[in-house]
Amino acid sequence: MLKIEDLTVVADNKTILDKLNLTIDTGSICAIMGPNGVGKSTICKVLLNDPNYKIVKGTINYNGKIINDLPTDERARLGLFLLSQVPTAIQGVSNSEMLRIAISERTKEATDILKFHKEAKEICQKLDMPANFIHRDINAGMSGGERKKNELMHLWMLKPEFIILDEIDSGLDVDAFKIVMKSLKEYYQEYKPSILIVTHNTKVFKYLKPDVINILDNGQIIKTGTESLAKTIDETGFETFKISKSVAHE
Ligand SMILES: Nc1ncnc2c1ncn2[C@@H]1O[C@H](COP(=O)(O)OP(=O)(O)OP(=O)(O)O)[C@@H](O)[C@H]1O
Ligand SMILES: [Mg+2]
Repeated sequence: MLKIEDLTVVADNKTILDKLNLTIDTGSICAIMGPNGVGKSTICKVLLNDPNYKIVKGTINYNGKIINDLPTDERARLGLFLLSQVPTAIQGVSNSEMLRIAISERTKEATDILKFHKEAKEICQKLDMPANFIHRDINAGMSGGERKKNELMHLWMLKPEFIILDEIDSGLDVDAFKIVMKSLKEYYQEYKPSILIVTHNTKVFKYLKPDVINILDNGQIIKTGTESLAKTIDETGFETFKISKSVAHE
């Protein structure tokens, strides 16, 4: 479904991703872990064409199509969705306004307003968030945890096929973490999207079991493994894996 090949990305004259290769199959869950500042969020943002990052080499192939030059809205139409590490607030645009347009762009049909509000209400209830959040400006004035839930509400409403979760747990209290992770698990079971998980918290894997876990260092995947790799990371940290410039397999 997604194939990143030889991808080199620069921001502010600094090479952040360095000849990165990564493949994520349809319906599979792929995790990326790694120390702070190694380029994990950059991968997420480049996948949605954040203008702060420039691809200088390599390709991003999504469902057989090279999307390097595709604008963000077109990528969203193709079903890519980023739940970002720090969700941005957009003052003056409500959840409802944005979602109604985005849904009709995805479905190519006019939104049925009654159905829309009924679904939004049910989703808010499931996520233990006030139903009036649908009328609030996107993430504006919301706490860190509320923003994560608000973005998750977008996810349920938009039903993307490829989900990128960048530190989904950050800002969530223990109860909210459980609600959010159970909800994501339910979404995965119902719609079988492909998921890219970036996390420092291996508790996330109890809900979304990764088919593969990659360790990123200096903009490259330096090790690939499965659940036992997460256990090793929890026990011994990343120092064990500082295998400069060569890709290792578990
Ligand atoms: N727009 C930008 N301009 C300049 N430098 C940037 C930009 N975006 C990212 N960087 C730098 O690139 C490196 C990778 O950043 P990134 O946010 O991808 O790290 P990360 O692996 O997600 O870290 P963390 O675990 O702390 O979230 C960092 O050194 C960061 O300062
Ligand atoms: Mg990050």
